[in-house]
Amino acid sequence: MTNKYRYFIGNWKMFGDFSSLKIINSINNYIKISKTKSKYNRVIFCVPNILINHFSNKLNKSNISIGAQNCHQLNDYGPYTGSINSKMIKSAGAKFLILGHSENRREGETDSLINKKIRSAIKNDLTVIFCIGETLKQKGKNTTNKILSKQIETGLKKIKNLQKIIVAYEPVWSIGTGIIPRNKELIKTLSFIRNKLNKSFKNKSFLRIIYGGSVNSKNIGALSTIPDISGFLIGGASTSAKKFIDIMKNCYM
Ligand code: PGA
Repeated sequence: MTNKYRYFIGNWKMFGDFSSLKIINSINNYIKISKTKSKYNRVIFCVPNILINHFSNKLNKSNISIGAQNCHQLNDYGPYTGSINSKMIKSAGAKFLILGHSENRREGETDSLINKKIRSAIKNDLTVIFCIGETLKQKGKNTTNKILSKQIETGLKKIKNLQKIIVAYEPVWSIGTGIIPRNKELIKTLSFIRNKLNKSFKNKSFLRIIYGGSVNSKNIGALSTIPDISGFLIGGASTSAKKFIDIMKNCYM
């Protein structure tokens, strides 16, 4: 483990309505029962914007934090129909924010735009879950490390330290496909990311790298044996209480 905490971060994407709070409540009940085992677990659900305020109020005294999934890069109000900035996300009660997700990069989000978003999120005291990862085509061309380097260098430009950043390595070809990298391959890529971050950021105690892409209760056992992983970003399986709880149960066994 690179950090004593283990992060289980649900990314709900475009899923859920007000009644979906019951999923998170069930998970919270499990966490309460298994408290001693999970002292170092940190559970976060990144939900659609409309749910942030209600969920964070309801979960105020729980072991679960709420996050958002994207934001506009500007810190002020402005004429951007349909947009919401990190200040608004923070005031709604979120503590975390996913940025740089490949589903947004695919829509044209660039590394420098992500950098602007990260800086505005940090300004508003949000912890950023910064997603990086290569596509299948990039992997096929053997350019994974080059791509990750660029994503890290530009995405984290002018960021002083990693205190408010959790880096999520998510190979694009693994998201929603059921395919995950071989352990050997993942260990190599994670150590590349770790070395890269260590070179740019002096304070190593803040370094947190998590893995995302098709995490489920069957593959979590093998994934959690990898020393460089501080936790997991979980998409599909985070929309079911049972699947999410099974992941937590089977982790670090
Ligand atoms: P997945 O999604 O777990 O459904 O593959 C992960 C993500 O997109 O963060």
